Amino acid sequence: MSSVQQLQATVDALAAKGKGILAADESSPTIAKRFDAIGVESTEEKRRAYRSLLLSTPGLGEFISGVILFEETLGQCDDNGVPIPELLVKQGVVPGIKVDKGKISLEGGELGDEITVGLEGLAERLDGYKKQGARFAKWRDVYTISQHTPSQLAIDENAKVLARYAKVCQEAGMVPIVEPEVLMDGDHTMEQCAKVTEAVQHAVFQALVQEGVTLEHILLKPNMIVPGKDCAKQATPEEIAHETVKILRRTVPAAVPSIHFLSGGLSDEASTEYLNAMNQIGRHPWELSFSYGRALQHPALVAWQGDAANAKQMQAALYKRARLNGTARYGRYTPDLE
Ligand code: 13P
Repeated sequence: MSSVQQLQATVDALAAKGKGILAADESSPTIAKRFDAIGVESTEEKRRAYRSLLLSTPGLGEFISGVILFEETLGQCDDNGVPIPELLVKQGVVPGIKVDKGKISLEGGELGDEITVGLEGLAERLDGYKKQGARFAKWRDVYTISQHTPSQLAIDENAKVLARYAKVCQEAGMVPIVEPEVLMDGDHTMEQCAKVTEAVQHAVFQALVQEGVTLEHILLKPNMIVPGKDCAKQATPEEIAHETVKILRRTVPAAVPSIHFLSGGLSDEASTEYLNAMNQIGRHPWELSFSYGRALQHPALVAWQGDAANAKQMQAALYKRARLNGTARYGRYTPDLE
């Protein structure tokens, strides 16, 4: 297969109807926070045990097209000694890898502006990840809404690194997930979220085009347009769906095959309901799908409690959320399915 055919095959698999992506790529500090919430200490073995059980869920591949792994997991084995990427392939799921190295504060920006790092040595790292079985990658830029942020500098500089990352991935035959996340933290309105997200997406696509990235071979992972967590005026699923689709139509070229939302702190049910509402709006130029971390894993994590004896309940919890989000891909979800 040529490199272009490889990219196309990966895109086709990830964007498959009725399926979406499971983000299981929490960095060590983030997974420690999630484990802490259920009173489990985060050791390398506990992380392996948790992710091994999660990814062995029977029938996972019915609704999950790809899984984003953290570097540590890519090199680990499941409880039967099978390398995790191999386990995923057996499940009919494409293995992916988070490749950014987190964010630092942006020199010359406003207080609170950040920039994502990790371009150095990326091509060599991708080579290694590919040998380990990864077929796609993820890089996340983060924008905080406040009175002075994100600054135009933060928007432009993050767009540039995201585009550079995407280019390097495509050259390595890996499909890049392009993730510009405007955070829900704060008391900003839905209109402010829409305005910032629109500016961010414009800059990202301008940079992607300038960098020569093939839009047909990327996946976009954006936030939905929602009011800040602490905003007094919350919104209905229909309002969120309409506003999100409106901003996407303004900014995302039809050449992009598929859009996979992050859940960003939305509840399990809300993430499903909003995706469903968008797919009900009707024909879109792109697939509208999911790439949820918390919204898929949260009930599984709670059921697990750090104990392998709870494997069945844990896997049932993940399977259920995957199935319901798969249903939302067709706009056929209703809350009574919960
Ligand atoms: P959440 O769905 O928990 O926001 O995680 C998705 C993700 O991969 C963020 O980079």
